[in-house]
Amino acid sequence: MTSPALPSGRAATPREIIAESLWRANRSKTASARADFSDVSAANRAAIDWAVEAGVVNGMGGGKFGTGWNVSRQDFAVMLWRAAGKPPASGSVRFGDAAAIADYARDAAAWTEGSGIINGIGGSFELQSSVTRAQVAAILQRYLTKQEGEITLIAAGLVKVYEQLGWHPAGKVAVKVSTGEPPASNYLRAELIGDLVRSVSGTIVECNTAYGGSRAASAMHKQVAADHGFTAIADFDLMDEDGEASWPVTGGKRLDHILVGSHAENYPDWLILSHYKGHAMAGFGGAIKNVGIGASSSSGKVLVHSVGTRTSDSIMYSDQDAWLEALAEMVDGFVDHVGKEHIVYVNVMNRLSVDCDCDGRPAEPDSDADLNWNDRESRSTREQNDKSVRPGIASKTVDLSGYATIYVGFPIWWGEEPRILDTFVESYDFSGKTMIPFCTSSSSGIGSSGRNMEQLTSGATWLDGRRFGGSVSVDELGAWADGLQ
Ligand SMILES: Cc1cc2nc3c(=O)[nH]c(=O)nc-3n(C[C@H](O)[C@H](O)[C@H](O)COP(=O)(O)O)c2cc1C
Repeated sequence: MTSPALPSGRAATPREIIAESLWRANRSKTASARADFSDVSAANRAAIDWAVEAGVVNGMGGGKFGTGWNVSRQDFAVMLWRAAGKPPASGSVRFGDAAAIADYARDAAAWTEGSGIINGIGGSFELQSSVTRAQVAAILQRYLTKQEGEITLIAAGLVKVYEQLGWHPAGKVAVKVSTGEPPASNYLRAELIGDLVRSVSGTIVECNTAYGGSRAASAMHKQVAADHGFTAIADFDLMDEDGEASWPVTGGKRLDHILVGSHAENYPDWLILSHYKGHAMAGFGGAIKNVGIGASSSSGKVLVHSVGTRTSDSIMYSDQDAWLEALAEMVDGFVDHVGKEHIVYVNVMNRLSVDCDCDGRPAEPDSDADLNWNDRESRSTREQNDKSVRPGIASKTVDLSGYATIYVGFPIWWGEEPRILDTFVESYDFSGKTMIPFCTSSSSGIGSSGRNMEQLTSGATWLDGRRFGGSVSVDELGAWADGLQ
């Protein structure tokens, strides 16, 4: 029996192999939807679903992906550029065949050339030649090296930010991070924080979760910490693997004590290194969530979530305000015990998803390219042009029952309210309430935004809105609101 000949490095590369390569270069992320093509095999399905959802490839029309079709060097540049988030190019293409570049490929060609990712062949881009398998490998290697370079820069920047704090810990430093729920959460990557953690000789600390998942038990949680690269940059300490410690809350309204992992007692100094992002129950999560839930032992987490009423069972609780207050009081108890001068907080805004790092399948964060409103094809522009789109809101549990007047503030997008405001006004019953819209914008007025939203509610009284510039001050806003009383 003879094996089929393997393709040589000089062979052309078909679309499904390009999708596969780019998917792997982007951490093999899982798409939330299935692309509807009739010519995709199971082996390439995950990669192609991702590539379509990320806007890296489109179909060929007629329900076909185009499996087996070879990709030109020009189109490969376009796909790579889209996968990188459509970064802006500085300068134009200098290759000999620059005049022949298709309009849709111009920015991509300029970026791939300008950043040294595509070097050309004998001074020419060779636009229409099929990209060979060897070329794909070399180009991807340069692309990934460039990305790694960017991470090194951010990592060094993080150390500089920390140094500005002028904090000099004398004792053993605990670095509290979220290890991130597998398989695809947006936790702070080890390569991003490694330099900072090493610069304080820190130990990365965490506690087990209270909602199941892969981090609810010590052995699995340690494996996640290793899989996510944390054990390669520092010692890792699962603070509640040997039990918990009870620390008092003085003058608390919701809690009289907190439960932290017992190893917390071993650390005099704490660097709270938080990934700032959305959170399904709290709305957003940063340092308070990282300590309040993150440093609580598994039962301590239930204690906070249930507002001091239990230490086991569900973390769900009906009173949103009360649990948020309990969360803040947990941090109060923590800070009192450790001592204010022994804690610093660094919040990192990176991969800002509406979903928390405790969500293993978070929504993809908005990239700069998604929000580029000068690009007619960007995601925000496409969403904004379709009045039926309703982007999801991370937290829907806010209780508006005690309010008679509601100020609805938003930035102007394409002369109107962003579509997520439509989601918001449709998510609640505003009957009997007075609604006052206000917006910021570069130059446009508030236009029809208030009327648009009015049509989506019933029984509410909508007043005329007001537009402010992007840099409006809190005082200016306050004076306007007071004037309406
Ligand atoms: C997708 C998008 C569309 C926008 N469309 C408009 C517009 O039509 N008119 C305008 O004056 N500003 C527009 N802007 C600018 C925002 O209104 C402005 O960024 C916002 O009010 C916040 O101000 P800041 O950017 O100074 O923080 C747009 C911004 C984005 C992200």
